[in-house]
Amino acid sequence: MTVGFIGTGSMGRTLIEAFIQAGKLKPADILAANRTKAKAALLAKNHPGLRVAHSNRQLAEESPCIFLCIKPKEYRAVLEEIKDVVRPNQIVVSITSPVMIRDLEEWVPAKVAKIIPSITQAVLSGNSLFVPGSRLTEEDQEMLWDLFSTVSRPLVIEERHTRIASDLASCSPAFLANLLEKLADAAVEETKIPPEAARSLVTQMAHGLGRLLTEGGFTLESLQDRVAVPGGITREGLNLLDQDVGPVFNRLIRLTHAKYDEDVQQVQHSLCTGKKV
Ligand SMILES: NC(=O)c1ccc[n+]([C@@H]2O[C@H](COP(=O)([O-])OP(=O)(O)OC[C@H]3O[C@@H](n4cnc5c(N)ncnc54)[C@H](OP(=O)(O)O)[C@@H]3O)[C@@H](O)[C@H]2O)c1
Repeated sequence: MTVGFIGTGSMGRTLIEAFIQAGKLKPADILAANRTKAKAALLAKNHPGLRVAHSNRQLAEESPCIFLCIKPKEYRAVLEEIKDVVRPNQIVVSITSPVMIRDLEEWVPAKVAKIIPSITQAVLSGNSLFVPGSRLTEEDQEMLWDLFSTVSRPLVIEERHTRIASDLASCSPAFLANLLEKLADAAVEETKIPPEAARSLVTQMAHGLGRLLTEGGFTLESLQDRVAVPGGITREGLNLLDQDVGPVFNRLIRLTHAKYDEDVQQVQHSLCTGKKV
């Protein structure tokens, strides 16, 4: 089956390369289109057999399953371009949280799903967030589940939880990398440890931490208890973090949700204003 990807930016490319790396799709199964053609052409050069469509419309005509890997404000233009050629038996997958399934279902007669990936899929790990649309059959859902199981652990979520689940699965790699960067920088500032050593120490620690939590039998709580003996140095540090860091995450979640509400409104305005039926 041909799988089409409209948008080969950061996430489109990550998904394409993850499916190829996992052996689930062969380059010849993939048809890609991108506004800046050179980006899709480079992908084709790196994965011989992968085809580049000359337009989004051609891609939509030829792909039973179409991924929309574009940003919220780019949906209107792409939908305008493909809506007349998309058929009811096709599947359209959006990877964009503020674009609502019901809006997409109004634009195209296809079977729609929202699947939010994460950069962690580049190493075939992490969750992908699966929100099935109303027209997807059991068979479609199984096909998509099977596809994403090769690069991630798919999780069905309700559309109203898309934002918070994306914060945890898709944004948190950046949030936690930022915290580790700050930890390493503070270490350099306070102790003059060489920066490369500080970065290497936190990076290798993060690798081990991920494995302890996913394969090592630890929970978030049991790991803290195991490392922090009463009265020891780690416990002192945890007490400080409990006090100072917790409220930052409440603010962070409020902030992402405020931005999300704004994006949802903008997308709805863009998709609903002056729509020709
Ligand atoms: N990055 C993440 O970790 C992540 C995680 C989960 C979900 N997402 C979602 O994934 C979506 C894409 O994000 P991204 O980070 O991949 O953004 P990106 O790097 O900007 O990629 C978007 C791509 O879409 C292309 N594009 C724009 N308009 C187009 C059109 N009319 N026809 C064909 N291609 C078009 C752009 O082409 P140009 O080369 O011309 O700019 C660009 O390559 C976003 O909605 C984001 O919320 C991202």
